[in-house]
Amino acid sequence: MKLIIAKSYEDMSRRAADVLAARVKEQPSCVLGLATGSTPIGLYADLVSDYEAGEISFADVETYNLDEYRGLSGDHDQSYRYFMNDNLFDHVDIDKARTHVPDGACADAEEACAAYEAAIEAAGGVDIQLLGLGHNGHIGFNEPCDEFPKATHCVQLTESTINANSRLFNSVDEVPREAYTMGIGTIMKAREILVVANGEGKADIVRRAFFGPVTPEVPASILQFHPNVTVIVDEEAGRLCE
Ligand code: F6R
Repeated sequence: MKLIIAKSYEDMSRRAADVLAARVKEQPSCVLGLATGSTPIGLYADLVSDYEAGEISFADVETYNLDEYRGLSGDHDQSYRYFMNDNLFDHVDIDKARTHVPDGACADAEEACAAYEAAIEAAGGVDIQLLGLGHNGHIGFNEPCDEFPKATHCVQLTESTINANSRLFNSVDEVPREAYTMGIGTIMKAREILVVANGEGKADIVRRAFFGPVTPEVPASILQFHPNVTVIVDEEAGRLCE
């Protein structure tokens, strides 16, 4: 694992954008695994700037997002599809037909998850997977539990995640209670993984995930077993890493 402690959120974002941009330049038809949340907003803005400066094209890139709320269609402004369009896809030359987010509007969980897993396989797998880190160590919506979930599946969100995400909805009651997410097995199959985390509030979980025991109670800790992981944090989130 390579750990980079960046000076600030802006520095973390730029360095992470550089890792993704380098991959796209080297392999224009690569498959990117993408994440939503507040952490990657800066790095997506940097990728948009790179595109506007003529430095990068996404024309042949294919993307698979980690997760989506079950019950929200892509035009809901809190859906992860909407987030991706708003923060990245609408501002670059990507072919939207090549961008994929689990289908939150599909009520049949088994069908939605199996189709997503099959689509990733058919695309040849994810070349580089971007991950944020939940305060409880979740990656995607893989919450702390007794065993690592393997494939894309439907999860019940924990109270802590529902509360954390409620800032984005009008009230906590509007936050969906379930989501479709890539499994830990799906994530671990990516050929390369890039984790970003910032802020004092992530310092403890960064330490536990990357320097503590590997346990499904801290889902991100499994990444210690992945052969090609880069973790980029700002100074606050990296404060407890020696
Ligand atoms: C988002 C996702 C989540 C977030 C995590 C951190 O697609 O899967 O695991 O990466 O909750 O969220 P932020 O960046 O808002 O702290």
